[in-house]
Amino acid sequence: MTGVLTATFKLLATTLVLLNGLSIVTNVHAFKSYQSLGGLDPRQVERIVPTLDARVPPRPPGPPRFTGTKLVDDCEHPWRPLRNGDIRGPCPGLNTLASHGYLPRDGVATPSQIIEAVQEGYNMNNQIATVTTFIAHLMDGNVVTDLLSIGEKTRRTGPDPPSPAIVGGISNHGTFEGDASMTRGDAFFGDNHSFNQTLFDQLVDFSNRFGGGFYNLTVAGELRHQRIQQSIATNPTFSLVGLRHITAFGETTFPVNLFTDGRQASNPTTRGQLTLSAARSFFKDMRFPTGFFRAAVPSGNEGIEVVFAAHPIEPGRNHGVNNYVVDTSLGSLSDPCGFYTGFVNTTIKGLYPNPTGVLRRNLNINLQFLYDALSPPDCPQVFPYGRN
Ligand code: HEM
Ligand SMILES: *[C@@H]1O[C@H](CO)[C@@H](O)[C@H](O)[C@H]1NC(C)=O
Ligand SMILES: *[C@@H]1O[C@H](CO)[C@@H](O)[C@H](O)[C@H]1NC(C)=O
Ligand SMILES: *[C@@H]1O[C@H](CO)[C@@H](O)[C@H](O)[C@H]1NC(C)=O
Ligand SMILES: *[C@@H]1O[C@H](CO)[C@@H](O)[C@H](O)[C@H]1NC(C)=O
Repeated sequence: MTGVLTATFKLLATTLVLLNGLSIVTNVHAFKSYQSLGGLDPRQVERIVPTLDARVPPRPPGPPRFTGTKLVDDCEHPWRPLRNGDIRGPCPGLNTLASHGYLPRDGVATPSQIIEAVQEGYNMNNQIATVTTFIAHLMDGNVVTDLLSIGEKTRRTGPDPPSPAIVGGISNHGTFEGDASMTRGDAFFGDNHSFNQTLFDQLVDFSNRFGGGFYNLTVAGELRHQRIQQSIATNPTFSLVGLRHITAFGETTFPVNLFTDGRQASNPTTRGQLTLSAARSFFKDMRFPTGFFRAAVPSGNEGIEVVFAAHPIEPGRNHGVNNYVVDTSLGSLSDPCGFYTGFVNTTIKGLYPNPTGVLRRNLNINLQFLYDALSPPDCPQVFPYGRN
């Protein structure tokens, strides 16, 4: 049903684009304020931008004043089930924040709101929060309106759990969303953002085998390897280049650093050992475990080198099943400046080959925010759209 609707919609949209005059009105109504303008043809951009509420992107928030642990599953942030139309996506961290109201519950936010929310709700450190958010916003957000969605709309059709519709936001495959996720399938197999019980069962199995019934960095190293091997063996389009080489390893540390209760950190035997009931709560229910305390100190991807060292692999992609070819052109975990240059000069430039006006201005402002947050290392800055 969804497929048919989407196909019909696409056909309609294409037809209307061809019928020049009419399309102005229709495109305007179809275009959401949080949808990315990346990859659209210049004539569409020219029509859509004037209809948007353009904002000057504000400077992103710095670190909060209080950076210790505290109760975050509090009465000002009650968990609520999804409503019709609420957007959720591939990130269990952001899904949970939206379901507790740290982010707007509809799943549409500004970059500043996302940075504030991950700092407040999890004690994510300011640099990781800022870099991650601006990478996502530049690829998948609307840089004119300064809005980003955390995934796709859900549609309630009955008593069943809501199912995603309308593609968008950070679920856009090949941008931030990528292959070999721990609990989500690869886009090649259809759904790339919904919780997958079979894959979660594998996480549980690995936690039992390598973590004594907990998810920890040892489990992360083995599960990361397993998921990559599974994708190499089954997904002809598997990609682990550039950003994905970094996020694939980084994301496996977040459950250890940010989903474990902050009070566990004071005890060496429980530090960094995530219970499987807590894992289920975040990944599946998008909900803090009852009475959850955020991390004890500002945290991010600490331990990523442990996960990588367990089974190192170079960035690359499949050219057909079981044919993994190394490709370092967009940088990697060990080449952050290569990543920065490739991201700006190839990825973003590819999405926005020739921006003008407010679009160009806001791209430059967001690229500057990203650059400022990235250093160190002090990579040479690149200016694909000139200087403002
Ligand atoms: C700072 C803003 C953030 C953005 C823009 C973001 C975005 C994303 C995206 C796009 C993915 C999907 C990548 C993939 O295909 O696997 C993802 C995965 C993930 N994110 Fe986030 N994220 C953010 C913060 C967080 C935080 C604060 C946490 C934890 C508290 C978190 C935990 C995770 C985990 C565990 C995954 C991996 C899911 C899996 O492999 O099944 N993220 N995130
Ligand atoms: C991601 O999944 C959605 C929903 O299943 C699908 O519509 C979309 O095409 C997928 N992305 C890609 C490029 O495979
Ligand atoms: C979940 O993942 C498994 C293993 O990759 C796959 O066989 C299955 O089709 C997926 N289920 C859904 C509902 O997508
Ligand atoms: C993970 O748990 C296993 C089993 O208790 C333990 O042997 C291993 O050292 C732990 N790894 C880390 C990094 O805590
Ligand atoms: C990035 O692109 C700009 C303009 O397109 C070009 O002048 C510059 O040499 C490129 N930088 C690198 C390091 O590739």
